[in-house]
Amino acid sequence: MPVLEQDAVLVRMLASGINPSDLIPVTGAYRHRTNIPFVPGFDGVGEIFAVGEHVDRALICRRVLPLGSAGNWQTFKAAPADWCIEVPSDITDEQAALAYVNPLTARLLVEALNPQHGDLVGITAAASQIGRMLIRMLSAAGARPLAIVRSSSALAALHSEAVADVVLEGTDLPVLDAGFDAVGGICGARLAASIQPGRPFVHYGLFSGVPLTSALLEGTQASVKLFRLRDWVHSVPRERLRAAMAQVFADIRSGRAASVVAAHYPLEEFRTGVAHNAQSGRHGKIILRL
Ligand SMILES: NC(=O)c1ccc[n+]([C@@H]2O[C@H](COP(=O)([O-])OP(=O)(O)OC[C@H]3O[C@@H](n4cnc5c(N)ncnc54)[C@H](OP(=O)(O)O)[C@@H]3O)[C@@H](O)[C@H]2O)c1
Repeated sequence: MPVLEQDAVLVRMLASGINPSDLIPVTGAYRHRTNIPFVPGFDGVGEIFAVGEHVDRALICRRVLPLGSAGNWQTFKAAPADWCIEVPSDITDEQAALAYVNPLTARLLVEALNPQHGDLVGITAAASQIGRMLIRMLSAAGARPLAIVRSSSALAALHSEAVADVVLEGTDLPVLDAGFDAVGGICGARLAASIQPGRPFVHYGLFSGVPLTSALLEGTQASVKLFRLRDWVHSVPRERLRAAMAQVFADIRSGRAASVVAAHYPLEEFRTGVAHNAQSGRHGKIILRL
């Protein structure tokens, strides 16, 4: 059991989602940055089981998201009390287990873009969970999402979403007002090259594993921006994070940031869960039951 400091709580974890960012240390990428022993898991929900000396005992049994650090793929996690966000009772464990990484990022990306009515916005890896959230949030804001996917199964999966069009990677793109890229490499560069001069191209993921070098972006006149949730979360006052998460819970209720779940695995079967996560054509997240 972790040692409990005075301002910390012990969270009995219930469920945690598997996200691409969790797999960086799991696969050994950037191994020089990973200090072991290391427990993955940035998303996840649990119940407060015990509190440190300086923490209100009334918090015991409350359902929370212990944010700000990895370590959610375990049964008990010690976390600073002020990093725990209480989960409203109408949000299910399943949705709460996936409420942070993708829903908050999608909200922040769309807020920062502040799209104008009718803006045509390209989205790569559009059938990913965050891609779908971006589609719904952009469309609710009056913009026209253009979904870019790599496979025919992803193309079919987006049929019911409110998109202006769905195209396969490599298709000629029209002139766009903005773009969100989670792929990088040639796919990301093609999206960047299609955006009007000075308009935003936001790169937030690297599914292809190929960085967007200046050579790949040569000739792009879009305004290139990078986004990392971790940087935002650790740079804003905790009250700002709480307010943003309150909006995220509303987005989940409205369906805009609701996650589709493909399968659940008990923690002991995490290897099977990680292998399932790696399968192409998986449309939905994998949840570890803790
Ligand atoms: N910067 C940040 O702070 C931040 C925060 C949240 C998420 N992200 C990023 O957002 C991306 C999506 O995350 P997620 O959790 O929503 O993913 P996910 O739902 O687990 O992703 C599955 C989907 O991604 C597609 N995909 C996988 N590899 C691809 C590739 N090389 N090219 C095109 N499509 C590919 C799959 O397509 P198929 O159906 O063809 O297999 C599938 O539709 C990740 O890159 C993640 O790191 C970044």
